[in-house]
Amino acid sequence: MKIAVLKETRAGENRVAITPQVAKSLTQMGNEVLIESGAGLGSHFSNEMYTDAGAVVVDRGAMNDAAMYVQINMPEAAVAQSLPKGSLWVSLMYHRSNADLISAFNAEGVSVLSLDAIPRISRAQSMDVLSSQANLAGYRAVIEGAYHLDKIFPMLMTAAGTVTPAKVLIFGVGVAGLQAIATAKRLGSVVEATDVRPETKEQVQSLGGKFIEVKGVEVGSEGGYAKEATEEYRAAQREAVNKSLAQADLVITTALVPGRKAPILVDDEQLGLMKSGSVLIDMAAEQGGNCSQTEAGKVKVVGGVKLVGAVNMPSELSANASELFARNIWELLKLVAPKGELILDRNDEIVQGCLICSNGEIYHNA
Ligand code: NAI
Repeated sequence: MKIAVLKETRAGENRVAITPQVAKSLTQMGNEVLIESGAGLGSHFSNEMYTDAGAVVVDRGAMNDAAMYVQINMPEAAVAQSLPKGSLWVSLMYHRSNADLISAFNAEGVSVLSLDAIPRISRAQSMDVLSSQANLAGYRAVIEGAYHLDKIFPMLMTAAGTVTPAKVLIFGVGVAGLQAIATAKRLGSVVEATDVRPETKEQVQSLGGKFIEVKGVEVGSEGGYAKEATEEYRAAQREAVNKSLAQADLVITTALVPGRKAPILVDDEQLGLMKSGSVLIDMAAEQGGNCSQTEAGKVKVVGGVKLVGAVNMPSELSANASELFARNIWELLKLVAPKGELILDRNDEIVQGCLICSNGEIYHNA
């Protein structure tokens, strides 16, 4: 099977979907791997490294007859027209919010496998790009927070006196939140965290953090993901977190609800409670932000609080992020093309979940 790996076109993107190591595994499996010239440079993979791995480095114009096209980010709808009928597109697609994009691919007879739609089941863990990238982003958020803070994280006992440890508050204890807790703890800070899913309490505690419980109102989850919080929950959450918010040096927000705008967890009034000199890293910035004042891609100071609208944090760790992303793709390919030929079996739960359209039919609507 001919697999084409495209150079990312998103501004500021340093990652690449397939590393030379995975390209080698794919060619050893009998596939022909075409890699767009320069695609790996942002992750320090030269064209030569891909050639040595058995891939063929080409320009975009020479990629018109592949069976499968792989990249990380969502494409422009117009890309569909450049792909051969019957081929398969693999990338993040967020199909729930991008019905027009899916229609454009479907109209050209191109099947779409959306990486963000891989079901959260044990068998799919090794293919889960959302987890592998969120894990790195959670780490990066703490490091970036530490960089912006004018304080250190650990307690320091010196002849000149004792420095108290930084206080970190984390909203959303999913994959990114858990890694942020672990990283902030390792750096010596005191960590508190909250989440709508009550099962996260034990996870926070096992990492040495304190869980802030929102009592009396339940939101629940579906398929491992949070449901949208009610106004009632939001009011109770405000009550539960505001004291910690006022004391925090670093706040990291990671809360997302699939297919919806990110919930506002720190509104204008709550932002006003935060200390001058504190930092808020909003990891949900691209989905609208968890803080009412967040602007994606911007760092601004509001009432003495440094507010970071974090965008594409995994790209800042492109070496590791590409490595993990490529391994996720490799695992997925072992499922959908085990012998170098595509078998999109919709009886398989994983394929069923992430195959958005094929053969002119759209399976998952927005
Ligand atoms: P996510 O990125 O969709 O959301 C981040 C966190 O925000 C979640 O923990 C969510 O509960 C929380 N959140 C949403 N609304 C909130 C609100 N109003 N207030 C406070 N918190 C709020 O979630 P992520 O990181 O993608 O993972 C969610 C869960 O999925 C994981 O913790 C895990 O249980 C499960 N999972 C399962 C996998 C598997 O079995 N293959 C792989 C990865 C995750």
